Amino acid sequence: MVIKTAEFVKSSQKWQDCPEPTMPEYAFIGRSNVGKSSLINAMMNHKDLAKTSQTPGKTQLINHFLVNENWYLTDLPGYGYAKVSKSLRKDFEKLITNYILNRKNLVNLFVLVDIRHTPQKIDLEFMQWLGESGVPFSIVFTKADKLKSGGVDRNVEVYKNELLQAWEDLPDLYVTSAEKKEGGDLILKFIQKTNDF
Ligand code: GTP
Ligand code: MG
Repeated sequence: MVIKTAEFVKSSQKWQDCPEPTMPEYAFIGRSNVGKSSLINAMMNHKDLAKTSQTPGKTQLINHFLVNENWYLTDLPGYGYAKVSKSLRKDFEKLITNYILNRKNLVNLFVLVDIRHTPQKIDLEFMQWLGESGVPFSIVFTKADKLKSGGVDRNVEVYKNELLQAWEDLPDLYVTSAEKKEGGDLILKFIQKTNDF
């Protein structure tokens, strides 16, 4: 898919404030600092469409971007950020779960996972909940530039084996680097494939 236009639409504090669900939507989610906003910028060929930061917890609202004037790309706040207060963390979790369960035009969630780490409980539990809730999702490994290619392959295998302990089928997996602008094209291909733009 060629990105002709990508524009920021709005930030919403709750799912009811999101733009009218008139176009297909795809959302990026994952732990704080995993690289959601950076990958959105890399895929859109835009330096700072989505705000990024070295400090976790940068994205605190639901941010909608309109792409090619016919689909929405959504940047969600990160989950599992330990340094915010318990009540704020609960608020984030509520915001995310309400969005996922109520957003009618959501076609697919992309769950981002840092390729350098072994499978984390919080991510596995979140994916388990998505599966049980019948929410379609794919896994996107981020920051692949931080490992040698052997390390990337090894960690993907470890992740697959972990998932296969709980499930029969694996979701689609993508290996990406926002830094090197790699892997985003396959995600765009998937998005194209699931629509008739
Ligand atoms: P929150 O909004 O806080 O949930 O974080 P986020 O998931 O949106 O992460 P963000 O894109 O802000 O990136 C966090 C940090 O990781 C930044 O310092 C980025 O420069 C860095 N980063 C993101 N993607 C990559 C990547 O592919 N490679 C490398 N080397 N660094 C990356
Ligand atoms: Mg962010």
